[in-house]
Amino acid sequence: MLENEATLEIQHLLRDFKPADGDLLGALHAVQHRYGYVPKIALRVVARQLRLSEAKVYGAATFYSEFRLSPPPETLISWCSGPTCRLKGGDRIRKVLEAELGIEMGETTDDKRVGLHLGQCNGTCEHAAQVWVNGEVTGPLDAAETVRLVRSLRGHAAPRRRGAGG
Ligand code: FES
Repeated sequence: MLENEATLEIQHLLRDFKPADGDLLGALHAVQHRYGYVPKIALRVVARQLRLSEAKVYGAATFYSEFRLSPPPETLISWCSGPTCRLKGGDRIRKVLEAELGIEMGETTDDKRVGLHLGQCNGTCEHAAQVWVNGEVTGPLDAAETVRLVRSLRGHAAPRRRGAGG
């Protein structure tokens, strides 16, 4: 998409956001929801729309872990950091994910195919401990199922999935 076209599209997306600090996170969420990440050009548009400095918008986009400043990988695994998932073995699942993928939370594999992202509880705790694979609830998981899931995402077997959300 051309830069001007992109600017107009983002301006249209943010047309209802008013110049006020309270709208900053909402505006960034709207952009990320639309594009899967917050493109650099959107930081400028958000700043203009809310009459904030680009530094302030950039600061918020980098401070909060839920925002991405680069396009998401082909497969994004969001690990739920919520209390119910952690109570049901979520920390072990995180370790397995990091070990199997060879990356740490917030990173993407070298081939750019799979990313690991810190997620927040979305209210589907009945599937704890869970992750979201490209937004789809996958769980409950234990360590062995997590290994299977990662291998399936890398093309070795079929994952077990339930529900929808993320
Ligand atoms: S704690 Fe994980 S979905 Fe609620």
